[in-house]
Amino acid sequence: MTHLTIDPVTRVGGHLRIEVDLTDGAVSDSWSSGTMFRGMEPILRGRDPRGAWLLAQRICGACAGVHGLASVRAVEDALGVTIPRNARSIRNLLMGSEFVLDHVVHFYHQHVLDWIDPMSALSADPAATATLARSTSTRGRSDTAAFRAARDRLAAFIATGGSGPFVDDGPGRSTARTSPETALLVMAHHLEALDWQRRIIQMQTLLGGKSPHPQVHLVGGAAVPVPWGGPPPLQPGEHPVQIDQRAPSALSSEGLSLMSTIVAEAKAFVEQVYIPDVVAIARAYPEWARIGRGIGNYLSYGEFPLDDSDAPRLLLPRGRVMGGDLARVESVDQVDVGETVAHSWYTYGGGADGTLRHPTMGMTEPRYAGPEPPITTLAGSERYSWLKAPRYREEPMEVGPLARMLVASVEGRGDVRERLEDVASRSGLGAAALSSTLGRMIARAVEAAVVADQLDGWIRELRATLASGDLAVADLSRWDPGTWPAAASGRSLGEGPRGAVGHWVSIADRRISDYQVVDATTWNASPRDAAGRRGPLEEALIGTPVADPERPVEVLRTVRSFDPCPACAVHAFDPGGDGPLGIRVRAGAGR
Ligand code: NI
Ligand code: MG
Repeated sequence: MTHLTIDPVTRVGGHLRIEVDLTDGAVSDSWSSGTMFRGMEPILRGRDPRGAWLLAQRICGACAGVHGLASVRAVEDALGVTIPRNARSIRNLLMGSEFVLDHVVHFYHQHVLDWIDPMSALSADPAATATLARSTSTRGRSDTAAFRAARDRLAAFIATGGSGPFVDDGPGRSTARTSPETALLVMAHHLEALDWQRRIIQMQTLLGGKSPHPQVHLVGGAAVPVPWGGPPPLQPGEHPVQIDQRAPSALSSEGLSLMSTIVAEAKAFVEQVYIPDVVAIARAYPEWARIGRGIGNYLSYGEFPLDDSDAPRLLLPRGRVMGGDLARVESVDQVDVGETVAHSWYTYGGGADGTLRHPTMGMTEPRYAGPEPPITTLAGSERYSWLKAPRYREEPMEVGPLARMLVASVEGRGDVRERLEDVASRSGLGAAALSSTLGRMIARAVEAAVVADQLDGWIRELRATLASGDLAVADLSRWDPGTWPAAASGRSLGEGPRGAVGHWVSIADRRISDYQVVDATTWNASPRDAAGRRGPLEEALIGTPVADPERPVEVLRTVRSFDPCPACAVHAFDPGGDGPLGIRVRAGAGR
């Protein structure tokens, strides 16, 4: 047996350590460890709930708007606030554009480098690459000159010596199987996606004021300026506010038109570039539809409310698929969510660490109980992670795009099912093969298309509501704490790009008395529970073949297929700690 440690896993958000045992060239056991503690939840205690979102969204910079939105929703739930229709559209646009942005960035800048050898693109024939591009996409911008220019740009960059992410010097790409032309195709789009990213972030900043971390959330709605007939007269003693005239305000006619243009570009990129490239990778690696299956339990809280009722219809529905049974969707009740810390560096006190605590009863009491540094292995430790282990009725659950697309498609959302089956079949896969490493990649791309399709509808909805004279963007009837009950509690069950996100807040005497977050990556990268059951990512690694233990790219393919964000999952940083500075892949006989 060989034991491997990869720490940190690069190209993910935050600090993640993966250890695996290899037996006969395949993973026989695995451990996923979040290696930092931050304690965001204790920080929120005692604060004004109206400002909680400003701190909560600092849980992560990659999941830029996820925790801010979850936090305002949880507080609104506690205080009984219903936001106006315009605010719902604004939130859907902010989160929807974040989904599309994150999924494209994940594929081109984090994941695809596990599947191609970027250096081989330098020997690609641009004309043959253009022919390949035209065979997979109807896009116009696929001529020989464009690919020659991309190859030259890549070569010039590599010649500077700053080619870190592209060279095969770390946990490598020894098993990359794609042709030089496929590598050039994907790398041309990798470069293009950097510019594309800037465009869609422009939409985020128009609506949100800045990115990451939009500044427009407000308990009650959105603090976005609405169009007016002209500036109000200055009052005595008041100073004029300087407004940057180069950027239109989001809700002006110009702002809405600019967003529509950006959305059309984003949609075209997803349909004509991202999805064909995902298909190309999937076709090159058919066996990866049988690797990385994982736990087979999928959870979606659902996202994108489409109406203003208490239980709105959701674009991505709420539900569970259990045990890989794609015949039915089970309901989700948040009372069945709990976290255990049996194998985490926390304590519930009094020998209760193995019990599942509902988030409203949650505790965040850190108690490090791992080996003294320098740590050679965590595999032998009973406790090995700063992540808690969330479970749904004691079951580990995979969350994220695959979970959402499976729940939507099994629930009979025709458009989702058709798109999923279309991309799967173009990739040479049946629907059953989606529970896999490739399936996560495919589901993420399909979801980007499903969400991108809705963005313009939300812009039109905003335009129509504003045009009708309804300019309300916030309901401030509960802004004054004098209107609050002495005690209240609320929650938000929603989705970020990486999966299901729950925030639970309790308010007493106008202050936060308790706050708990159960993030997407806490579900996916969870350690074992009291029964010894592995988390979804750990389970997905079992059976993964590894050709070269010095270059375990196969492990990273499955890890990154989850798009993990351990920064979100532990909500922490250790100002006095010594973070790992280099990537360590340690291989040795036994542990
Ligand atoms: Ni994150
Ligand atoms: Mg938590």
